[in-house]
Amino acid sequence: MKSAKGTRDLLADECRQFQQVESWALQHFSRYGFQEIRTPIFEETALFVRGIGDETDIVSKEMYQLTTKGGDELTLRPEMTASVCRAVIQHNLLANDDLLRFIYMGPMFRYERPQAGRYRQFHQLGAEVFGSDDPLVEVETIEAVLSFLSPFQLPNLTLRLNSVGDSSDRPAYLAYLRQELDTHSGQLCQDCTRRKETNVLRVLDCKNEACRAVLDRLHPISTFWSTTTRDHFEAVCRGLDRLSISYVLDPMLVRGLDYYTRTAFELQSGELGAQSAVLGGGRYDNLVATLGGPDTPAFGWALGLDRLVGLLAARKALPEQRPHLFFIFSQREQLEEFLPLLARLRAGGHSVQFDLRLGSFKSQMKRANRLQARYCAIVGERECQGGTVTLKDMDQSSQREVPQDHLPAVMKEVCPC
Ligand code: HAM
Repeated sequence: MKSAKGTRDLLADECRQFQQVESWALQHFSRYGFQEIRTPIFEETALFVRGIGDETDIVSKEMYQLTTKGGDELTLRPEMTASVCRAVIQHNLLANDDLLRFIYMGPMFRYERPQAGRYRQFHQLGAEVFGSDDPLVEVETIEAVLSFLSPFQLPNLTLRLNSVGDSSDRPAYLAYLRQELDTHSGQLCQDCTRRKETNVLRVLDCKNEACRAVLDRLHPISTFWSTTTRDHFEAVCRGLDRLSISYVLDPMLVRGLDYYTRTAFELQSGELGAQSAVLGGGRYDNLVATLGGPDTPAFGWALGLDRLVGLLAARKALPEQRPHLFFIFSQREQLEEFLPLLARLRAGGHSVQFDLRLGSFKSQMKRANRLQARYCAIVGERECQGGTVTLKDMDQSSQREVPQDHLPAVMKEVCPC
């Protein structure tokens, strides 16, 4: 048996990398006032249909939908923005605090064609801010995610930025697009011919050369921006400039979800091949109201954790986790006797391991080497009689005898944690 298509097991190394990224995220984003939120893995299907838009690829083709025996229509979440909005409305959170900042992480599900960096179960780390339409929300939140990523030193990242307008100026652009595409309909691919009728903005995303040739000749969306949209976008750019954050203006950038208004952005990596988006997001000032809540401006992004961890693994950017201490015993009876000492060492913060199957001294030492243990504590007959252990520094190849009782203090000194 194998894991289902598009899903995968995260084995020890990758789990460790996920943990490191996730715990750094919680630490980093709490500095900006983000608080964690966890929502259910499945929601009522109507939430995503209304939230993301029924003409989007996600809703029309990619949702894992099910009808329960009781007749409930449920969907495994394909993203979390709609879920977070639902939670904010359901718990009336906007009544208590006018500016809310959430961070979340967890698995999402989309029935897509699997390929490198694209899975059917994947993981996102995301952030959502509710309650302000100030362009500084974009600036601060984009800065927050870039400084979150900066210790990973990922090369070749490009921040792409656009404004997709809002309900006051977008309809004119959509009408213009439709009209132009109608006159060139013979040149459009099958997908675009369909999208032209159902979700015309998505045509801008097409990679087909013939479609691109048509699109490249059209006026960009910025020609249709209202003064409010333009002022907002320029203020976002000014804020990013002030922080020396470089970006590329991309008039073709539209996102795959219908809820965006004004600012849309993506961070792409030149090292990810076809699935180059590390993260994407934007402003969605109408979504909370669409889902039945009060009028609430909002902005957020989500990052593909599988893609980020893939980049880190390729660069070996994360440190190996070495056990601090590996115990080597000569007899099974010693093991039980040492359990309290092992517990004390672990309570002091040390990672301590041993081979429960014991085996020969040589095989235990081999395992310590394979795990790259920093120190070994050798407990032979002589050490047992003297109430000591031989502490071997595996990097320096030096060793000394230490009374068993002193071991926690010695470890604290030589291997602080
Ligand atoms: P999204 O662009 O659909 O946006 O997804 C965000 C990120 O999730 C992508 O940039 C990518 O890194 C990762 N991702 C998406 N699909 C897959 C997949 N099949 N396999 C692996 N990684 C994937 C959203 O989901 C919005 N909710 C973002 C947002 C938050 N906008 C506002 N707030």
